Amino acid sequence: MSDPVALPSRASSTDYPIEPRKVAFDFSNTPLHWIPGDPYSSHFINLLHIILPAGEFWFCRVYNKAKPLISDDKLKADVQAFLRQESMHARAHESAVNDYLARHGLDTTPFTSRMDWFFKKLLGDDRILGLIPVPADSRRERWWLKFRLGVIAAIEHFTCVLGNYALNNETWDRDGADPVMLDIARWHGAEEVEHRCVAYDLYRHVGGSYANRFGLMALIIPLMISFWIAGTALMMRQDPAFQDKKPRLWRPWIWREWSRVAERTGHLPRLGWLLRESMSYLKPGYHPIYEANTEQALNYLRQSPAAQAVHSQA
Ligand SMILES: [Fe+2]
Ligand SMILES: [Fe+2]
Repeated sequence: MSDPVALPSRASSTDYPIEPRKVAFDFSNTPLHWIPGDPYSSHFINLLHIILPAGEFWFCRVYNKAKPLISDDKLKADVQAFLRQESMHARAHESAVNDYLARHGLDTTPFTSRMDWFFKKLLGDDRILGLIPVPADSRRERWWLKFRLGVIAAIEHFTCVLGNYALNNETWDRDGADPVMLDIARWHGAEEVEHRCVAYDLYRHVGGSYANRFGLMALIIPLMISFWIAGTALMMRQDPAFQDKKPRLWRPWIWREWSRVAERTGHLPRLGWLLRESMSYLKPGYHPIYEANTEQALNYLRQSPAAQAVHSQA
């Protein structure tokens, strides 16, 4: 956590322009076990490719609906840049699903179709949790929009924590991890750090309260971790390296192995650390600006191979 700094007294806490970047990743030489000798961590981190696109495209749909509620010009610009960054993230991870996971014979559709259902049906525009109709221009519609802005703010805290972790994990480089996979994790992580205040600022701008923030995060933490383990287990079940383990969300092996691998290799965050970091969002004095180092993120983005490759082709 960086030292507290004085916050600007306007709707946006981001005192720099957020820059959307085009990127392209070439996974043609990336092995399935892209951290050598560590198939568990390789699959665990690959989960990002299958969980993120549905969620990030949903962020964009919700934010497009929320734009008319924004009365501050800088926050409007932040939200526009956030939208462009998130849609690029979603497309980059989709390319990993198509060009990398599919090439290695992994069928991710049982998980991605569940994610689509979760974001499009359960959290869609037309019905609250897929059940209660939402009439246009009603109080219920405004409440449902604010509720979903709160969900996004809570998830964005989670993605900032993970982005900060990716920028600071040195064991991946030490152990010879695939450079393309490292770049997608760190490019995405760095942009999460760069835009870490936007969702929180927007949530507060529309009147999001501390009580709702607390309740939403208490829901989001177990949900995100359960999705993560369920998706990782699905990919492991298709890998002969785990044939005898039959990984499932409800089987203890996958949870015990997480702890063992994190401890032994340093390739993964520990569950306890992840819970502690996620719960900092519950503190009354929380603000995302204190959660990571902007300069470190921008430094990475200046030298990200994928961002540079697109620049040089332009
Ligand atoms: Fe993202
Ligand atoms: Fe984000």
